[in-house]
This record gives sequence, C-alpha cells and structure tokens, in this order.
Amino acid sequence: MKPWEKPRRLPLHVAIIMDGNGRWAKKRGLGRALGHRKGVETLRAVVRESSELGIGVLSLYAFSTENWSRSAEEVGALMGLLLEFFAKEIDALHANRVRVRILGDVEGLPGPQRDAALAAMARTAENAGLQLNIALNYGGRDELVRAMRRLMRAGLAPEQVNEKALADALDTAGQPDVDLMIRPGGEMRLSNFLLFQSAYAEFLFPGTLWPDFDVDAYHHALDAYAARERRLGGRKEHGGE
Ligand code: FPP
Repeated sequence: MKPWEKPRRLPLHVAIIMDGNGRWAKKRGLGRALGHRKGVETLRAVVRESSELGIGVLSLYAFSTENWSRSAEEVGALMGLLLEFFAKEIDALHANRVRVRILGDVEGLPGPQRDAALAAMARTAENAGLQLNIALNYGGRDELVRAMRRLMRAGLAPEQVNEKALADALDTAGQPDVDLMIRPGGEMRLSNFLLFQSAYAEFLFPGTLWPDFDVDAYHHALDAYAARERRLGGRKEHGGE
C-alpha cells in the first residue's frame, strides 16, 4: 500500500493557486510560455488524481483579472494554452465524468476562449464526477461585485440579503466552501482568489514551483490537511451542501 492509499480525511473542496511557472522557466533559461506549458501538465495530473481520489470540487486559478496587465506575448501564450487545453482535454474529462465550471467573467474573454469555455461547461453539465472549477478572468472582489449586482437585479430587499443569498449568487453557487487552499511557489498570499469561499479554509504554501508540483507533492498536502484540527470558529465541521 502506498502511503497515500491509507484512509484519511479528504477535503471536499481543494483550491489551488498555480504559481511559479515563470520562475521555473527562468531557472532553465526558457521563456515564460514554456513554464506555463509545463504548468498545464501538472494541472492535468492533479485533475486526474483528484478525480480518482473522489475529491468533490477542485478549483484552479488559471487567469486572474489582473493577469491582463502581463506582456501581450505572455497573455497570448496563456490564451493559446487555454484553447489547446479545451480542444485536447475535453473528451477525456467528459469520459471521466468531470463537470467543468468556469469561475470569473466569461464574457470578458476573447471570443474563441469564451466559446470554448462555454462549450466545455455545456458538454459536461450533467456529469456527476469531480467538479472542476477553472478560474478565468477571475477576481474575488469582481465576483462579489457581480454577485451583488445579481441580487439587486433580482430585486432583493436589504433584509433578504444574507450570507446564503450571497453565496448562492457567487460563481461557485451550490458548491461547498473551500476546505484546503494550496499555493505552491513560496508566496503566501491569496491574490484575490475565492475570498468569500475561503473564510474557514486551511492554507498550505509549499515552496515547490507549480510545474514541479507532482502527485507526491499533492498527497503531502492532503496528508498535512488531514493532520490539522479544524474548529471552524466553533462551528461544527460542515458537510458543504
Ligand atoms: C502563475 O505563475 C501562473 C499563471 C499566471 C497562470 C497559470 C496557468 C496555467 C498553469 C495554465 C493555463 C491554464 C489552463 C486551464 C490551460 P507565474 O507566471 O506568476 O510564475 P512566477 O511567479 O514564477 O513568475
């Protein structure tokens, strides 16, 4: 039995800030785009492992609202990788019953990326396996603003606005809160990812750069999570739904 095959408490919702692609490439004298390409390989491995382990929700921060300010070359490379990812992976994701949801302002994506993202969501909408959230053109504050606008458009009175109503208007509507937030790459910041949903999350900041973050590193993180005692501010451990 491999160490990670022993029974342990799994998080319902894992969120990952995929950081360090640029540094990984620089260390090797490569362009940043190659770091991102290697990062997609890690992403595929972590998605597959999450699906096999029976993790409920996996949220990946792929492109933030702030990432548009990177060089045109880098933004172009990331947008290209995104299209390639959907074209190459959607059949396998669908076959493995993965359900894709895009978090973020999809309408603000370039046409081809928006269409591919919407098609991936539509095609996998009925799947009952891993819920894979891909954050694209996503910012936590932007998500809260969009959620508030939804509530106001729906005509809610101030006293009808509560935590449940707000949670139900977020991009993650219907999903459990984040239990485990992992940011590889050594930085210890949330960078505007899932602000509302991470209120009681456990945080891990492994130093490994994302392209080097392999299945073993993922299992180390899951073990570290299982070893932590969660009190959730006095609330009972929540089951999500
Ligand atoms: C941060 O590393 C990473 C990103 C801004 C992009 C992450 C995207 C991918 C792994 C691939 C694209 C996604 C899909 C779904 C195909 P960084 O560039 O900030 O690294 P650095 O801190 O070392 O510079």
